[in-house]
Amino acid sequence: MAKNGPAPQPGILDINPYVPGESSVPGGVKPIKLSSNETPLGPSPKAIAAYKAVADELDRYPDGGATALRDAIARHYGLNPDRIVCGSGSDELINLIAHAYLGAGEEAVYSAHGFLMYKIATLASGATPVSVPEKGYTADVDAILAAVTPRTRVVFLANPNNPTGTYLPHGEVRRLHKGLPGNVLLVIDAAYSEYVRRNDYEAGLELVATTNNTVMTRTFSKIYGLAALRLGWAYCPAEVADALNRTRGPFNVNAPAIAAGVAALADRAHLETGIAHNEKWLPWVTSEIQKLGLEVTPSVGNFVLIHFADPKVAGAADEFLKARGIILRRVAAYGLPNCLRMTIGTSDDNHKVVAALASFLGRS
Ligand SMILES: Cc1ncc(COP(=O)(O)O)c(C=O)c1O
Repeated sequence: MAKNGPAPQPGILDINPYVPGESSVPGGVKPIKLSSNETPLGPSPKAIAAYKAVADELDRYPDGGATALRDAIARHYGLNPDRIVCGSGSDELINLIAHAYLGAGEEAVYSAHGFLMYKIATLASGATPVSVPEKGYTADVDAILAAVTPRTRVVFLANPNNPTGTYLPHGEVRRLHKGLPGNVLLVIDAAYSEYVRRNDYEAGLELVATTNNTVMTRTFSKIYGLAALRLGWAYCPAEVADALNRTRGPFNVNAPAIAAGVAALADRAHLETGIAHNEKWLPWVTSEIQKLGLEVTPSVGNFVLIHFADPKVAGAADEFLKARGIILRRVAAYGLPNCLRMTIGTSDDNHKVVAALASFLGRS
């Protein structure tokens, strides 16, 4: 064996691989899986039909430009399709952005409990991740701006953020953008935007439309229920779309995903059902868990962050729930070792989690 084997680029071995939410419990029973912020309602039946309809054409490459999907997104939101870039999940878009705009000696800034992919994508590009403290589990605009240096090239902001569920009002996002130098790209990750019911929230479209250094990323994995197909999109300034299109794989979005995405967008009733379900159960879950004496961070997404006394109790609660077939998410990797994140489930799921937590706490 050669003494000096191939070595990955600097930064690669500093990456802690992303650990997805667990999906099985001991005993082989079908779990209540509330660990990955998936919708409890499934995809639109129209999306499933469109997916199946492509089965006879698997020998054909997909349309490398995902034209039908970009056109459908553009119609849905009133956007310019030329400035939409589709990806294999928004994860891929985050990676493409990092690849195109970050390199050795440069920095990407994000908030302390921000989505894990920002750090991974930054390190994978050889750049330096800069994590900034939050205030009340919420991104702190002043702290982010204070962390910007001449080396900063990208600021990542999940709005709402996973796993905290908190958000920045549009005025704060604007203030953040205003404070950034023109050569810094603001990436607004709006993976959960459809769930937000707040008058002062805006997903990012306005800033992308009016500035040349803002990108908004979106996903079909959450409210649209197409996580398995890996489908996301970014709305970009023309120059950024051009950079991403040069570096993405020529067929990075597969044909069943394109077909299902187009059909999903056309089913507005299904989207409304998902919104209404969350609007009903998010407050219920929050208040029922609070009534048990646990702190729950107020969330605008389809999940809640539940706080326990210390990491040991959080771990014990996780094991207790798993033994009852319920999988939540440990979030120690996000700097939140005292917490579990719970995705809003069906009525039955939500009742079972609250009952199991009550019995964990000895209150059943
Ligand atoms: C904030 C945030 N951004 C992006 C993603 C990635 O989504 P996708 O499935 O589109 O890659 C997630 C998934 O958990 C997320 O929570």
